[in-house]
Amino acid sequence: MISYFKRISTYIFILVMALGVVNCSENLTPVLSSPDNNIKVSFSLTDSGMPEYKVSYRDKAVILPSTMGFEFKDQAPLKDSFRLAEINYRMEDETWPMPWGEQDSVRNHYNEMSIVLEEVKSPNRKWNIVFRAYDDGIGFRYEFPEQPNFKTALITDEHTQFNLSGDHQVWWQPGDWDIYEHLYSHTKFSEIDALKYKDNPNLAATYIPENAVNTPVTMKTEDGIYLSFHEADLTDYSGMTLKVDTSNNSMVSELVGSERLQGKAEITAPFNTPWRTVQIADRAGDLIESKLVLNLNDPNAIGDVSYFTPMKYVGIWWEMHLGKSTWDMEGSQSMNTFTNSGEIRPNHGATTENAMRYIDFAAENGIKGLLVEGWNTGWDKWINTEDREGVFDFMTPYADYDFDKVMAYAKEKGVEVIMHHETSAAPLTYEKQMDVAYKFMKDNGMNSVKTGYVGKIIPKGEYHHGQWMVRHYHKVLEKAAKMKIAINAHEPIKATGKRRTYPNAIAREGLRGQEFNAWAEDGGNPPDHLPTVAFTRMLSGPIDFTPGIFNIKFEEYKPDNQVSTTLAHQLALYVVIYSPIQMLADLPEHYTENGKPHPALQFIRDVGVDWSESKVLDGEVGEYVTIARKERGSGNWFVGGITGDEGRTETITLDFLEPGKTYEAILYKDAPDSHWDTNPQAYEIESMEVTSGDKVEVSLAPGGGFALSLIEKK
Ligand code: NOJ
Ligand code: CA
Repeated sequence: MISYFKRISTYIFILVMALGVVNCSENLTPVLSSPDNNIKVSFSLTDSGMPEYKVSYRDKAVILPSTMGFEFKDQAPLKDSFRLAEINYRMEDETWPMPWGEQDSVRNHYNEMSIVLEEVKSPNRKWNIVFRAYDDGIGFRYEFPEQPNFKTALITDEHTQFNLSGDHQVWWQPGDWDIYEHLYSHTKFSEIDALKYKDNPNLAATYIPENAVNTPVTMKTEDGIYLSFHEADLTDYSGMTLKVDTSNNSMVSELVGSERLQGKAEITAPFNTPWRTVQIADRAGDLIESKLVLNLNDPNAIGDVSYFTPMKYVGIWWEMHLGKSTWDMEGSQSMNTFTNSGEIRPNHGATTENAMRYIDFAAENGIKGLLVEGWNTGWDKWINTEDREGVFDFMTPYADYDFDKVMAYAKEKGVEVIMHHETSAAPLTYEKQMDVAYKFMKDNGMNSVKTGYVGKIIPKGEYHHGQWMVRHYHKVLEKAAKMKIAINAHEPIKATGKRRTYPNAIAREGLRGQEFNAWAEDGGNPPDHLPTVAFTRMLSGPIDFTPGIFNIKFEEYKPDNQVSTTLAHQLALYVVIYSPIQMLADLPEHYTENGKPHPALQFIRDVGVDWSESKVLDGEVGEYVTIARKERGSGNWFVGGITGDEGRTETITLDFLEPGKTYEAILYKDAPDSHWDTNPQAYEIESMEVTSGDKVEVSLAPGGGFALSLIEKK
């Protein structure tokens, strides 16, 4: 409390409400307002002393009265019989720098209200609920202070309700305890049916126990307000899904469990849960620009991360997904042979020669990074083994991969090799080897690693999104930070803004990525996939989607599969889908045309990966989105736009350009007859000179897109 006062005294209050401490002798309904006063959170206790909150936006209810509570193993629930002992108010207005990111810095401006509750009956426990109101939404978390009658607990249920104000439109994916690689559905809230996705032949691990959704889940109200529900700072707790009651427009937190624990999360007081967040916006694009989730995380705890440079990279990767080559040397482990019952075709992808071929391609095109999957032994026993403990080691290259020679060649050509650690969801094996594996990386000049967790978690009874794995993913981040290593996790825990605290968390998968287009039995990702992802998954953080497929139908390898976008849409993804690492996912040979570099490759060579400013120019969830970003250092701007099934025309007003300057604009767009299915590779390139007063009009084909580079003329 004293520290609250100390901090408070350093601020100038321009707030309507009184800040400070309120001692509560009678029943109050404290209200917290956002700095702009548009959002209001009210707290109260029900007649039985149960905590309850509600939220309004511009005087319209967005969350109706919703209660909060916990159940524990061998302890009375935290449910009712509470008294409001104290309320503390404070505000914060700071700006923090992003070491890499969508913008140079972030303003963190909020008002806070801490509610101190006391149980009026035995065991007289104390419990705090802290609310923060921002202009772009709210967050709240539970705090269990140190106290005599509550030391440790096994949470068997968290009951945080979110009672909605109507039967909203919802973009959702099922609340899977093991994977986020589902397609999004767009339905009314009352029509959510997650259990329909229970059996999925394309997922190596999946468990959907309830009619629940994963977060971020995005909604649109009848009044045209956009909402997105998620969580921030998930560090030592289970991931939250939201169980839906379709008869009642109501959701309640459903934590991912553990069969081993027979519960959800173990806690020891003092303990703070992750923040439960609700983003609120008038414009769909504002959800993307919002930094609420990041702001609810602690400041950078690891200092300088300049060992990691945002970069584009190529990889020995797509060829295994296409079945052109295999991860293992024996030739049994390509995605092809998983689905084509065991055809053996020895054709290892990660050979010395092939790696050198990719290095040449990267060096010729100014691409900084190279990922090599299948370089280490163990892949022959990868997925089709029940007991995957001890299968992989992260030090031993295959006999046909001369590790030292590849590293020396990469160095000579100025290419940085990215490590690959597929753990096959055996985290204990990984934890045992982490020290030596990371030292091996650093000894060889490697600064980042792509990790992977394919399959069901060993030990049995734990899930990818439960507390046990959340702790593992965190351990990896911490250990890597100490060793100055950046992590790009696949089959990860969802992003919850921890990259603010641990900026070595550079990117992750955690969605249905490009790979599904190579082999999914359901036809891959439909054209509206990424216009949905931009307003859902992307609200949580950077995505290693792996864009840039030019050979859209890859008939040579997989005549029954394809990418369901145009080529121009693939280009746009370098701007639309944010990540500080962006892959050129296609095979090097697909980036050439008649022996010359493919003309559209120029955009990928030019486009930035680290930004000083980002603006969402236009967009509707699941339909289309256009984003402009300004590159750090150069001041050049890049614009990307994508659309789903429907073609459309976009007019881009260039008023974000610096007045008085002239820019060389190159527009990469769909041809008049482009179509994601019938003519996906048709494109046109147009060059012009523009200034901030100009507009550019562009037509997007069904499943199409455009990419615009705006290079300042010196
Ligand atoms: C799944 C990852 O998402 C993919 O990128 C990777 O190639 C395979 N696992 C193998 O690790
Ligand atoms: Ca994956």
